[in-house]
Amino acid sequence: MKWDNSFAIGIEAIDNQHRKIFERLLAIENSIAKRDPWHVLNFLLSQLAESMKFHLAVEESLLEVTRYPGLKGHRDSHGRIVDLMAELEEKLERAPSEAFLVGFFEDWFLRHVLGGDREYAAYLNQEFPVIFRRKAA
Ligand SMILES: [Fe+2]
Ligand SMILES: [Fe+2]
Repeated sequence: MKWDNSFAIGIEAIDNQHRKIFERLLAIENSIAKRDPWHVLNFLLSQLAESMKFHLAVEESLLEVTRYPGLKGHRDSHGRIVDLMAELEEKLERAPSEAFLVGFFEDWFLRHVLGGDREYAAYLNQEFPVIFRRKAA
């Protein structure tokens, strides 16, 4: 897992949050690889949950104020991410395997960020272009 600028959706604050969550997943990956004790992993997971919950709330507020037509569906998929994060924590406590982390990464990042988040970004880009970062001249 490596961050790539092509992952950006174009809204600076959102991209910074995605990147932060990405980095927290990498820290968990390293911790599993090093076979850190559970309390270390648990701490990293609580940091992940904190960044994720903040980010999901920011996105939902943004979609609310911009009257995004897909808000309900997007909010539901955030609910599923929160559930998956809790499941990830349970699984890692039982068996700290990188495979569980990769599964979560696929659901959150590949399916959600590169799917649903890109969809709302396309809407915002059309309706509120001012919130997008201007391309460097
Ligand atoms: Fe997001
Ligand atoms: Fe989202």
